[in-house]
Amino acid sequence: MRVEDLVYFCAPARLVMGAGCRAQLPALLRRLGYRRGLLVTDTFFSGATPWVDELVAGGRAQGVELLVYDGGMPDPTTTLCDAATAAVRERLAGVPVDHVIALGGGSNIDLAKALCLTLPDGSAVRAFLGKIDAGTPILPLVAMPTTAGTGSEATPGAILVDPDNATKVAVMDNRLRPAVALVDPEFTYTCPPRVTADAGIDALTHAIESYLTLDSAIFDRGGEADPGYSGRNALTMLFAHESIRLCGRYLLRSVQDGGDREARIGMSYASVYAALSYGSAGLNAVHGIAYAVAGQTHLSHGTTNAVMLPYVLDALGDVRREEMLAIARLLDIAETDPDIAAARVPGVVRELVAAVGLPTTLRDCGIEQRDVDALVRDALDVARLAKAFPVPDVSARYDAMVRNAWAGTLTAEAGASVQRRRAA
Ligand SMILES: NC(=O)c1ccc[n+]([C@@H]2O[C@H](COP(=O)([O-])OP(=O)(O)OC[C@H]3O[C@@H](n4cnc5c(N)ncnc54)[C@H](O)[C@@H]3O)[C@@H](O)[C@H]2O)c1
Repeated sequence: MRVEDLVYFCAPARLVMGAGCRAQLPALLRRLGYRRGLLVTDTFFSGATPWVDELVAGGRAQGVELLVYDGGMPDPTTTLCDAATAAVRERLAGVPVDHVIALGGGSNIDLAKALCLTLPDGSAVRAFLGKIDAGTPILPLVAMPTTAGTGSEATPGAILVDPDNATKVAVMDNRLRPAVALVDPEFTYTCPPRVTADAGIDALTHAIESYLTLDSAIFDRGGEADPGYSGRNALTMLFAHESIRLCGRYLLRSVQDGGDREARIGMSYASVYAALSYGSAGLNAVHGIAYAVAGQTHLSHGTTNAVMLPYVLDALGDVRREEMLAIARLLDIAETDPDIAAARVPGVVRELVAAVGLPTTLRDCGIEQRDVDALVRDALDVARLAKAFPVPDVSARYDAMVRNAWAGTLTAEAGASVQRRRAA
């Protein structure tokens, strides 16, 4: 318990989890009263796995007709969403669907979220950037993640690339949280190492970032009566804590051996727990800067988070000392001196990023030094994330973190070495 907390906790209406649990879905769809749905996926799943055909046949046996749209692509753009809306509406020929199902990574889930908004009346998805009217009809969503993960199956947002914006944009509303999040870890067994690494670091980032974010008691909800994100509280921190522990134990294992069933299941839990934390607490600088890095480099979401995470941790040592020590213990940092243990966290996280094969500096991501100022500006422009960074001097720290990430400088690591030498 934390005495000052002001909890506003939101989650998917139903969370179904477990190896093989996808077999339960057709009967559940029928029980929920759905009769005609749209399955949003991509050609990997329709072509190389049996899951789409199995679901369509299972639905038919339960009297639920499913149309398949497999035009999903990594990092969906607003243009892709609008093209999908037009294509699906043409196929529906005026006979509406009563639900949408997403099968895939965060990209397919986000495309499906966009379609939940746009299919009812054919609007362009950009019409929903910013605020969504209370009267807007939104189709219910069943989200089945195949990566572990983005956590999009538990969050209120769809993250989209907008050709007119330097950073990614968000369509956000608590009514976009899935009616059903069905997390079958078996879906992740086919993930190649790079997708596993990207998604796994994304989950770790969600857990750590929301564990350290602004407290709910001082979070600016902007007068919103139904906020999607509202700062950390004891409940979100419980989930984040367990997620960090699971990532520490299973992330590297799942990348090194995709056939490690325990590690795959462990990361599926880690991803969901992280989403149950950040899906209410919210995120801040890692994602804010990562969106700007993605705008410049078009690197994947996990990669752009991975490169920033150590440097953001490095900048929070003074304001989140106790939590940093807890993270050190969760990551099994074998150091008895608490100050040294806490100071080692950014370096240990950077070693993990390198061990899963992701870049550890912005230079390695292809960013030129002359582009650093623009990067800082673009990142600060994502105001909803910048304002949740729990420091008094947000602009100055963004500037320092981006410069350190470009050069590969960790200040806490240097401090830890000095302390270790003194202690010896
Ligand atoms: N809405 C949210 O709350 C939220 C949160 C975090 C990230 N995101 C978004 O999610 C996207 C990233 O999602 P992601 O990391 O899950 O990757 P992804 O969905 O972009 O998928 C990457 C590639 O991996 C393939 N793939 C996915 N699962 C697979 C499997 N089981 N086997 C084989 N191949 C598989 C996909 O077909 C695709 O080609 C980004 O666009 C990011 O912005 C959204």
